[in-house]
Amino acid sequence: MFGKRSATSEQAKTSAPAPRIEPAPAKTPAPSAADPAPTAVTVGGRTQHVPTASVAAAAPKPARAVEARSEDYYQIKTTIFNALIDTIDLAQLAQLDPESAREEIRDIVNEIISIKAVVMSIAEQEHLLQDICNDVLGYGPLEPLLARDDIADIMVNGAGRVFIEVSGKVQLTNIRFRDNAQLMNICQRIVSQVGRRVDESSPICDARLLDGSRVNVIAPPLALDGPTLTIRKFKKDKLKLDDLTRFGSINPSGARILGVIGRSRCNVLISGGTGSGKTTLLNCMTAYIEADERVITCEDAAELQLQQPHVVRLETRPPNLEGQGQITMRDLVRNCLRMRPERIIVGEVRGPEAFDLLQAMNTGHDGSMGTLHANSPREAMSRLESMITMGGFQLPTRTIREMIVASIDIIIQAERMRDGSRRITKITEVVGTEGDVVITQDLMTYEVTGEDETGKLKGKHMGTGIVRPSFWERARYYGLERELAEALDELQQH
Ligand SMILES: Nc1ncnc2c1ncn2[C@@H]1O[C@H](COP(=O)(O)OP(=O)(O)OP(=O)(O)O)[C@@H](O)[C@H]1O
Ligand SMILES: [Mg+2]
Repeated sequence: MFGKRSATSEQAKTSAPAPRIEPAPAKTPAPSAADPAPTAVTVGGRTQHVPTASVAAAAPKPARAVEARSEDYYQIKTTIFNALIDTIDLAQLAQLDPESAREEIRDIVNEIISIKAVVMSIAEQEHLLQDICNDVLGYGPLEPLLARDDIADIMVNGAGRVFIEVSGKVQLTNIRFRDNAQLMNICQRIVSQVGRRVDESSPICDARLLDGSRVNVIAPPLALDGPTLTIRKFKKDKLKLDDLTRFGSINPSGARILGVIGRSRCNVLISGGTGSGKTTLLNCMTAYIEADERVITCEDAAELQLQQPHVVRLETRPPNLEGQGQITMRDLVRNCLRMRPERIIVGEVRGPEAFDLLQAMNTGHDGSMGTLHANSPREAMSRLESMITMGGFQLPTRTIREMIVASIDIIIQAERMRDGSRRITKITEVVGTEGDVVITQDLMTYEVTGEDETGKLKGKHMGTGIVRPSFWERARYYGLERELAEALDELQQH
C-alpha cells in the first residue's frame, strides 16, 4: 500500500552493507570454518547464537553491559532506520492506526534485515523493531521513560545525556538519542501536537504531551549543548493527602489542620521552590471543595485533577508565531470573575494576576487558592507585593500589604529537602498589620533533627503553642472549631 515500498529491495541491495556484529569473548575455542555449530555473538551487549560463518571474520572484543547498548547496535539501527525512511511514505503511515502502522513497519524492517543479511536473533530483532517503531511512531528513546510511572521529571540535555528524577533524586540514564537532529525532531513532534513550532527562530516552547505531561523545549542557539527538553511527568494517580501523610510529608494532625483550612474555605497560598510539590499539594487541598461549588481553575498547563462535578478548567495561551493571540493568566483570572465562580484556583501566580486574585479572594470568593514560587511564607508575601508593584499598579506599599492581609488567610510552605524528600514545612497564618508590617504566625513547623545512616533526614512536625488561630471564627462558622482545637492539641503533643 505504500507507494515507495517497491523500491526497498533495490535500495537495500545497493546501499552499504550492514555493519558487522561484534562477537562476545570466545567462550569456546574458535570453531573451524567447516564447523556448523553456532557461536555466541553480542548485539547491543546481549549474547546469542548464530551460525559461525557470519562471525568468523570479526575479531573478538569483550562484551559490554546490557544497558549500555554497543556502538554496533546503534550503527545497525541507523542503517536499518535510514533504509526504512527511504522506503516508506511517512505521510501515508501517519494515516494508519498505530497497530497497522506497527505491522507495516515490522514487515519492511524484516525485509531490510534479510536483504542486508544482518544476523540477529528473533529477540534481538524484536528489540530493534520496538526501538524503530518508537522512533517513527512515538517519542523515540523517550518512550520507555514515558511509560514509567515512578519518574517525576525527564531532563534531556542534548542527545547524549538524559536524566530522570525518581524518588526525589536525579540520576543519569543510559538512554540516548542518535544525534541532536533526532532529538530536535522529537521535540518538534511533541510541540506540533499542540500547534506550536520550535526551531532556531523560535527556540523556546512550552507544550503538553497527550497524557498531560508538561513539556519545555529550549533549542540551540540558546541552549549551547543541543536541544534541551524538560518533561514534568503527569501522574495518573495523583497523590492524596493520605499519601503525603504516609510518606511523612506531613503528620496526621497537620493533615487534619489542612482539612479544616480547606473545609472552612480559607484563602490559601501554597508557597515553595521548583518541584517542591506545590501543585500536588494544591490538588490535595481541592479535595475539600464541596461537590455543589462552582470552581474555576486557571493554569498555564492544565495539571490539576479536581474530582468535583462543577469545575471549569481554563488554560493560558502563548502568542502565535506572529506574536499575536496571547491570553495571559491575568486575562483568565479577570474573565473568571464574570463566570460566577465560588472558588478560583490559580495554578501558579507569577505576575500581575496576583492583584486580581487578591481582589477576588477579598470579594466573596472564599476558599480560593493558588501557588507561588518562594522559599518561605514571608518571602511569598513580598513576592506578591512585588508582582503587584511590577504589574504597574500605582498603589502605596501600605495599601498593597493591607490588601494581602485582607485576602490571604493561610500560607502553606512546601519544600524539597536535601535528601530528595518533599515536606510541608510550615502552615502559617496571615494575622494582620502593625503599621506597615504584615504580621504572621506559624501554626505548624517542621524541624530537622538529624540524619539516619542512609542519609535520609529525620525530623518532626510540631505545633507552635497557638490554640486559637485567627481563622478560629471561620472554622466555627463551618462547625469545625472542635476539629481544629483537637488537631492543634494533637500537634502540640508530638
Ligand atoms: N509529598 C510528596 N512526596 C513525594 N512526591 C511528591 C510529593 N509532592 C509532590 N511529589 C512529586 O514531585 C513531583 C513534583 O511535584 P509538583 O508538580 O507538585 O511540584 P511543583 O512545586 O508544582 O513544581 P513546579 O515548580 O515545577 O511547578 C511530582 O512528580 C509529584 O508527584
Ligand atoms: Mg507546579
